[in-house]
Amino acid sequence: MGAHMSEPSHCCKARVFTPETRTDASGELEREILRLKKERNAVILAHNYQIGEIQRIADFTGDSLGLSYKAAEAKDADVIVFCGVHFMAETAKILNPSKTVLLPDMDAGCSLSDSCPAAELAAYKEKNPGLYTVAYINCSAQVKALSDVIVTSGNAAKIVAKIPQDREILFVPDQNLGQWVMEQTGRQMRLWPGNCHVHVRFNAELIDALRQQFPAAPVVAHPECVQGVRALADEVCSTERMITFCRENPADTFIIITEPDMIHRLQHEVPGKTFVCGTQQRQRGDCDCFYCEYMKRNTLEKLRDCLKNNTPKIELDSALMEKARAPIERMLDWSR
Ligand code: 13P
Ligand code: SF4
Repeated sequence: MGAHMSEPSHCCKARVFTPETRTDASGELEREILRLKKERNAVILAHNYQIGEIQRIADFTGDSLGLSYKAAEAKDADVIVFCGVHFMAETAKILNPSKTVLLPDMDAGCSLSDSCPAAELAAYKEKNPGLYTVAYINCSAQVKALSDVIVTSGNAAKIVAKIPQDREILFVPDQNLGQWVMEQTGRQMRLWPGNCHVHVRFNAELIDALRQQFPAAPVVAHPECVQGVRALADEVCSTERMITFCRENPADTFIIITEPDMIHRLQHEVPGKTFVCGTQQRQRGDCDCFYCEYMKRNTLEKLRDCLKNNTPKIELDSALMEKARAPIERMLDWSR
């Protein structure tokens, strides 16, 4: 577990984010990024788990589904800077192959994506022919190329419900999201035994403790959490849906069970409400926040440098991109 914990510099320090704790910094570095962005005719896309400074400077911040649409639509830009993790930048490249796609730090990986190596999936499919393979977008381009349709946490149940009933489904790589989709759709699926090391750290004991502390606050959890946590939540949804839920729900305080930087987006989109970061109770004065250290690899400095140097770039074989594009486009069509 220790190896996955993020550095204290990214620590939220306080677990409760009130409207007063919202910050709106804009300094020299930000101005340089905006100047370089204009020079390169670039668009900056950021996932909801990026640090607040990156979210604030991005042209669009969203979940995996929203970012896929934005990447596909970025027709006028020459460069897409993807502030997220590797599989997301790959998806942007696959959807818009003529663009330069930059990822500020090439080591921004994903433990969930790593839990399903393409060679293992290919071997499994060979041994078990005829399966309809549904892949959560958190996987490599090679895994996408082996799949029939891609899903995100925002559309997984809707997409799975469209698959012909006579097909047996293999869901990769997240067993928790897969289990949640089965609960939502009543559809049985074979589940690949992968998970996200960040979301599986939340547990029922932690939710109970937070509920005691904030009894009126609805608990909002991401479907990558384990079943015992999802069962205790008032709403289980993608990061994007969390925004609508918190906006529409009359409560003024919410317990957010996902990567803590999601709270920047919530504070921005749902002003005036309070968000409690669903991390472990603090012990010995340490803040044990459940950050995704891969998402945190991107910094404003690396964003500036990648725009300045036009690197690191996502490079993918065109035959691989073509194979991986079909299931992604099927998802975009089916989820409209
Ligand atoms: P989404 O809500 O974008 O699916 O986020 C989940 C996630 O873990 C992305 O890495
Ligand atoms: Fe991957 Fe989990 Fe990080 Fe999302 S939060 S990028 S699923 S490791």
